[in-house]
Amino acid sequence: MTEEQILEAIGKVEVREGIQRTIKSYALRSNVMDDAQRRIVLDNYERYCTTFSEGLIDPRTLFKDPAKPVIVEIGFGMGSSTQVIAKERDGFNYLCLEVYLVGFVKLLRDVSKLELDNIRLMRFNAVDVLQRMIADSSVQGFHIFFPDPWPKKKHHKRRLIQPDFVSLLSRKLVKGGYIYMVTDWREYAEWSMEIFSQEPLLSDPYGKGVYAPPVPWRPTTKFEKKGLEKDYEISELWFERV
Ligand SMILES: C[S@@+](CC[C@H](N)C(=O)[O-])C[C@H]1O[C@@H](n2cnc3c(N)ncnc32)[C@H](O)[C@@H]1O
Repeated sequence: MTEEQILEAIGKVEVREGIQRTIKSYALRSNVMDDAQRRIVLDNYERYCTTFSEGLIDPRTLFKDPAKPVIVEIGFGMGSSTQVIAKERDGFNYLCLEVYLVGFVKLLRDVSKLELDNIRLMRFNAVDVLQRMIADSSVQGFHIFFPDPWPKKKHHKRRLIQPDFVSLLSRKLVKGGYIYMVTDWREYAEWSMEIFSQEPLLSDPYGKGVYAPPVPWRPTTKFEKKGLEKDYEISELWFERV
């Protein structure tokens, strides 16, 4: 790819067609990079990033070792958990989706330093990627860590976890695949528990309405530690495709 093509690819983060995308789950911040950030992107894009394209693919084909099952992470933020998990739980490939440019470049820098070939980053709206690019029954798991809780009632429609989106996630999973969501916002946990429980393609291995125990391989992030200091309770939700 030429430098222009790379910059164009990361500059556009959603499909704008017809009226509006279904869920406005994020507020877009700046699209401007300084020279150092631009260099990181240009030097590493082709090895570690994937460009959004229309047409369904098996995501395993994006990776150096296509034998490993694919986990899709939605909204990795600064990517601090992402890289720890990908390094330690290296039997999987990780397709990591985020629209926040600063976080995207930060994870790209870290991944290139660590040479983590089981990570591919995409700066694109997860809803579009799943609807338009990822084939059904092709994903082993979804990681959704601390999605924006949109706490005000008038913003609840911006929450990522909605019945249609959960149904979309479920269709993308292989049988036995999982959705793992973590939140520190109790009311969002309850909201999500209700929606996941009602999805016919999902089962709840821990019992109806029961939160999952923490998994040993998910590190505690800085953001999470701050929440814990304020006495926020962490809720873990784990569902599996029937
Ligand atoms: C509260 S942050 C949490 C970040 C990280 N997972 C963590 O635990 O620190 C939620 C992130 O999800 C991203 N996000 C929200 N909706 C998204 C979407 N539809 N596609 C991709 N990323 C999204 C936001 O840009 C934001 O960075």
